[in-house]
Amino acid sequence: MAELIDHPLVQHKLAIIRDVDTGHKRFRELAKEITKFICYEALKNIPTKEVSVQTPVAPAVCHKIDTDLVVVPVLRAGIGMLEGILELAPTARVGFVGLYRDEETKLPVSYYERFPPQIRGGTCIVIDPMLATGGSTSAAVRSLKDQGATEIIVICIVTCPEGIALVEGEHPDVKIYAAAIDQQLNEKKYIVPGLGDAGDRLFGTLDPE
Ligand code: PRP
Ligand code: URA
Repeated sequence: MAELIDHPLVQHKLAIIRDVDTGHKRFRELAKEITKFICYEALKNIPTKEVSVQTPVAPAVCHKIDTDLVVVPVLRAGIGMLEGILELAPTARVGFVGLYRDEETKLPVSYYERFPPQIRGGTCIVIDPMLATGGSTSAAVRSLKDQGATEIIVICIVTCPEGIALVEGEHPDVKIYAAAIDQQLNEKKYIVPGLGDAGDRLFGTLDPE
């Protein structure tokens, strides 16, 4: 299942991050800001426990988060979303999945994986700005499941129906949260209109010298 975060504050920032004239500094800032809004919504159903807190006046019934949060950026573009989530959930642990799309086949190639043990029993949040064919996200979720993770959500910035269908087909238990569900993929398997190559735009690898 996919949930679109269509709040005007998110959609306004999306309009700017999509703009081809937005440079890497602003792109990074916007990726972080958009991520915070999506994450705020995506974590609304995580487990909490009732606790009693003594205020200066009286005991209060309160609720604290009752799960280990593990954020899993998909390298490299997922790094651009990490800081935003850690500002909301500063005690979250971080695991990494290194994947790139083969230029010919467009299939994900794995080159790195490292997870904290809390993926087992905790709540894993896979982050990657682009969920295009869905191959990379699906592979990241598969790696987590292979290591024993059972509670997994996905946060991306832009996705499309093909990618959602692939992830839903392979992982019907995983919910996807996105700021945009675009029309389609083009012949190079880029999201249209999308925002281009997120890794290059985040890290300035395409900008002129
Ligand atoms: C991009 C993006 C996703 C993937 C999405 O990464 O950040 O990981 O492509 O495509 P998919 O849904 O079709 O798998 P890329 O392979 O360009 O690597 P990079 O982040 O290192 O630039
Ligand atoms: N990866 C990107 O960075 N952008 C796309 O549109 C598709 C894959």
